[in-house]
Amino acid sequence: MVTLTVNGREQRFDGNPEMPLLWYLRDVLGLTGSKYGCGMALCGACTIHLDGVAMRACVTPVSAAQGRTVTTIEGLSADGSHPVQQAWTELNVAQCGYCQCGQIMQAASLLKDKPKPSDADIDAAMVGNLCRCGTYTRIRAAIHLAVEKTGGGA
Ligand code: FES
Ligand code: FES
Repeated sequence: MVTLTVNGREQRFDGNPEMPLLWYLRDVLGLTGSKYGCGMALCGACTIHLDGVAMRACVTPVSAAQGRTVTTIEGLSADGSHPVQQAWTELNVAQCGYCQCGQIMQAASLLKDKPKPSDADIDAAMVGNLCRCGTYTRIRAAIHLAVEKTGGGA
């Protein structure tokens, strides 16, 4: 039995603890914001937070979340009001959107760690999140806008 908290709610899972967390979130809990891209920690489409830190859910077994807190894009804010989400909407970052939940979760984790990141910090943090539509310029601008919105205190 794995006990974990997902988006503020305690969950008990008595299936295979080696199941990828991404499968559990999408198929068992129905939280389909986190996407499956590569399944090998190479694209970032499945990025979630484990105890507030960005993680690749496709290569993380459910057992790794025992006693810990998982946040998905559905739980980042109650109503889309997280400064990163607001900045994304304002600058119309998404194109097809497939990679964007992962991008937002990665960016939110970066800002928790570094409230005023430089371009180099942003590039280093976001390098593992691929976007086939090439929205990288807007992503970087949106991260800077999110910093402005919080006055550097995200
Ligand atoms: S699906 Fe997890 S990193 Fe690509
Ligand atoms: S917006 Fe299409 S893959 Fe990133």
